[in-house]
Order: sequence, then C-alpha cells, then structure tokens
Amino acid sequence: KRPIIIDTDPGIDDAVAIAIALYDEQLDVRLITTVAGNVSLEKVTYNAMRLMKFFGKDIPVAAGADRPLIKEAIDASDIHGETGMGGYDFEEPDMDKLLKEHAVNAMYKEITNSVQPITLVPIGPLTNIALLLRMYPEVKDNIHEIVLMGGSTARGNAGVMAEFNIFADPEAAKIVFDSGISLTMVGLDIGLKALIYPEDSQQLKELNRTGDMLYQLFQRYRGGGLKTGLKMYDSTAIGYLLNPDMFETVDAFVDIELEGSLTKGCTVVDLKNYTGNKPNVTVAVDIDPVQYKDWLIECIKKCI
Ligand code: BDR
Ligand code: CA
Repeated sequence: KRPIIIDTDPGIDDAVAIAIALYDEQLDVRLITTVAGNVSLEKVTYNAMRLMKFFGKDIPVAAGADRPLIKEAIDASDIHGETGMGGYDFEEPDMDKLLKEHAVNAMYKEITNSVQPITLVPIGPLTNIALLLRMYPEVKDNIHEIVLMGGSTARGNAGVMAEFNIFADPEAAKIVFDSGISLTMVGLDIGLKALIYPEDSQQLKELNRTGDMLYQLFQRYRGGGLKTGLKMYDSTAIGYLLNPDMFETVDAFVDIELEGSLTKGCTVVDLKNYTGNKPNVTVAVDIDPVQYKDWLIECIKKCI
C-alpha cells in the first residue's frame, strides 16, 4: 500500500476525494491535516471530523494553519455553503479525537517515522505544506512525491487566471513549487472536465450510504446548480495516484506569479519552454471525462 497524507479544506469535492482515498485498497491514508481555505479552519476541521465519524474511521486528523502566510484569508463559501459541507445531516463528531498537535508537527512525525516514503496530497491552499518545508526541510528526504490539486495552464476560477488553492496562498504555493520535491499538478484543466451530472449523482445516491451522502452534499454545491455538471476537482488528485492512465501529462517549468496586479496567484506554466528553465512539475493537461466519471462511480461502490 502507498502511504499518503491528505491536506484538505473540506469542502464538498474534498469529501469526495477523502471517501475515495479511504476505501481504495492501494492507499494507506496515514493522516489527514486541515487548512483554512473553502471556509475557516474551525469549520473545515469540524467537517473532516464529521467525515471520520461518518466513515467510522480512526485516521488521525490534525488542524493546521488558520490563515495564509501573507495574504488575508479568502473563502469559497459561495461554492461550498456557509459550513463548507452543508446539505447532509451528519452525526456529531468526536472532536476530542482531534490530535492536540499542529498539523505541521503531525506531518513531520508521520513522515519521519515512516519506513516507506510518504506521498503528500494537498487539496487545499498550500499553507501547511509550505510551513512544513520551512520548519522541517529534512522531511524532503522521506517524501516520495507531492500530487496536488491546484493551478491551471489557462483560465482561473478565483480570478481571471488564478485557481482558488493557489490564489488563496500564493507565497505558500511558491515555496512548494520551488522545493525541488517531485511534484504533479492536477489543476483546473482537469477539474473543469471532471464533471458529475444529475443522472450520475442519482446513480451515486442508489449505491450506498456514501453515495447518498455525496448526493445530498451535491444538492448544495454551487447553490444546487446541478445541470451543467459539478466539478469534482479534488478527487482528480487521488485519481492521478490511482489511475494515471486516465490523464495526459507534460513535464514543464511552473512558477507562481506573486506580483502581477491582474495575475497574482496564477501558475505560469511554460508548456513550450520559452524560459529555457528545467521542468519542475508534471502537469496534468487532459483527462477523458467519461473514463473519469466511470472511475469515480466504481470508487464510490467500494465505500460503505
Ligand atoms: C479548489 O478550490 C476549492 O474550492 C476546491 O475544494 C478545490 O480544492 C478548486 O479550485
Ligand atoms: Ca479543496
């Protein structure tokens, strides 16, 4: 099994990613860390604990950064609702099970103590990962790779050019992209094609408790605008780990724009090597939408 740490801000699409990761036989989810993003740290942590209770799993959860490194916090409650994961009547979680230590320290311990190198899967703003790399640079030696959901080769969803997870904390993203760790970026190019339509959602509902829970959450995702297809961004990073054949990728030099008055927080992806810089990122540039949807449904079938 491949040991992973998921760094997340649940988040409706985060919930899908977590469900898939927890029940896939190839993955060993060692730790879940939370970061302020879609909604506040308090809310995303509560949501992560609600998911653990729902799934009956005792995977450790640790709360991390409650704000970006430099920028003021933004949120995406317009997409995910006030609570970040509304629409399903979850049981009260056991909040006393939340680890007492900060996510960065919990990650450090897990990475250092692991016999097998750890894969990090960040599906929220990169604040925790940046802090980890600054506080404990030695963890690099035992990180197998980072596969993250974030960025875009073209348009944005938080600004004209910027994707939400990068835009939320661009300085943190810069630290991660410059780290030299093997990095795969599964960004908007993929998320915009990873769509679940109302009929797929209905199919999920009939599958099992998890499918029903996701169906209910989807009724609130983007205020319930189901017809155009819901973007399942975060699950695509897990999809890349489990089924890379669904993707087309290009190795490219990627940098984070920190200054541009119109472009701050965008990923500058040099697909044609204009800069002459060595590629530092494997960029997922395409996915087959039908394959993706079938894959997602098969994964949810494995859940409770
Ligand atoms: C990313 O932003 C968040 O709203 C989603 O959870 C996802 O991680 C998509 O841009
Ligand atoms: Ca997310």
